[in-house]
Amino acid sequence: MSTDGPVKIGLLGRGTVGGGLVELLGDRAEAIRSATGREVEVSGVLTTSQGDFEQILAGADVIVELMGGTTTAREHVMAALKAGKPVITANKQLLAQHGAELFDAAEEAGVQLRFEAAVAGVVPIIRVVQESFGAVEFTKVFGIVNGTTNFILSEMASSGASYEDVLAQAQELGYAEADPTDDVNGADAAAKMAILARLAFHTPVDFDDVPFEGIESVQPDDLAYAKELGLSLKLLGVAERLEGGITVSVYPCFLYPGHPLSPINGPFNAVMVQAPEITEVTMSGPGAGGTETAAAVLGDLISVISGDAPIHAAERELPVLSDVESSFYLHLEVADEPGVLAQVAKVLSDAGLSVKSVVQKGMGDDARLVMVVHRCPEKLFTDTVAEIGRLDSLRSGPRFIRVIEEEFV
Ligand SMILES: NC(=O)c1ccc[n+]([C@@H]2O[C@H](COP(=O)([O-])OP(=O)(O)OC[C@H]3O[C@@H](n4cnc5c(N)ncnc54)[C@H](OP(=O)(O)O)[C@@H]3O)[C@@H](O)[C@H]2O)c1
Repeated sequence: MSTDGPVKIGLLGRGTVGGGLVELLGDRAEAIRSATGREVEVSGVLTTSQGDFEQILAGADVIVELMGGTTTAREHVMAALKAGKPVITANKQLLAQHGAELFDAAEEAGVQLRFEAAVAGVVPIIRVVQESFGAVEFTKVFGIVNGTTNFILSEMASSGASYEDVLAQAQELGYAEADPTDDVNGADAAAKMAILARLAFHTPVDFDDVPFEGIESVQPDDLAYAKELGLSLKLLGVAERLEGGITVSVYPCFLYPGHPLSPINGPFNAVMVQAPEITEVTMSGPGAGGTETAAAVLGDLISVISGDAPIHAAERELPVLSDVESSFYLHLEVADEPGVLAQVAKVLSDAGLSVKSVVQKGMGDDARLVMVVHRCPEKLFTDTVAEIGRLDSLRSGPRFIRVIEEEFV
């Protein structure tokens, strides 16, 4: 990086976040100078209709990639790192799919690759995992890392409206994109969890290693019945260190009241980190937004100019495990006749599964059994539920959602 004159920023993409960054660079110029001792100027901008990448690269001290996508963005980010230029990006899919080669290129060139805005919006979780707690042994990193789905689930729970109606409302309010697929099916959260797990456990984790489930099939009555059991529903990303490896996944999950993530509603994100040395830390904040995301990019820019290099994880190979344990909410539409509860209870107890709580609701064609089953191996649970699904007394297929049972105080 040049040592005199303004620090020159090559900006790739000037949309929602890139535009927000340009505004912040103007509005906060004095604060940036006082934090870094340097002026900052945008020396080149690339959009689909403007700018030449090679020229922008040659004239820049730092490349800020805010284009999105994994093809052109990957080529440009790799070229910048190979040219010895530090890179800041907000692109979660790029890091989740090509993290290994990007980290290697950054390390080889001895330059910084920063990406605070790629995970959990404004919540500075990357800095906390990589730097603040860079030397602790994390046991678990989990949270709400997608604001769109959190808005939809909170609205469904409070209004009783259907998934489709609330999704349309989220699109009107700008909380969901015109094509919301990657948000609602869990892929966006899975990309973020791949990045977080890699940093927290110092082991390679790619997007393909993270099984994900979305919220598209959540029914309003699941939320209504769960309320009676004191539960609220979140789409959680969970990365956990277990005996013999790690597990990383994304799924809808019920939480009991008192859980630190339970009150996080609307388009907010929140992440919890746990380690013996720090017990537990929870952070929350807006999950997206042009200015908010740009503020996280600006924080990275200040770190790059100040020369604070993040600790790059020493790599080790931890296996990614698949069959883990969980508690479950189970929703059964049953025939309104005597003995149904006993039949279901027998299948559960024959499998060694125990029930924490049960609610019997409705009559006739509306009769249901809703219960929470204590922690058990997931495969045992799904096999047992398949057996329950074969009982004549069931009116439709069983529905189930994971539950975190711990009740925090
Ligand atoms: N929006 C958020 O709240 C948010 C939050 C967290 C992270 N992010 C991440 O931030 C990044 C940018 O998001 P955004 O919402 O700002 O996107 P956006 O509004 O769609 O802007 C993208 C910008 O990149 C340019 N661009 C796209 N493809 C290009 C290509 N092949 N060549 C040259 N220019 C290209 C576009 O050019 P034109 O102007 O010509 O279209 C536009 O200026 C993404 O990686 C996203 O995942 C966004």
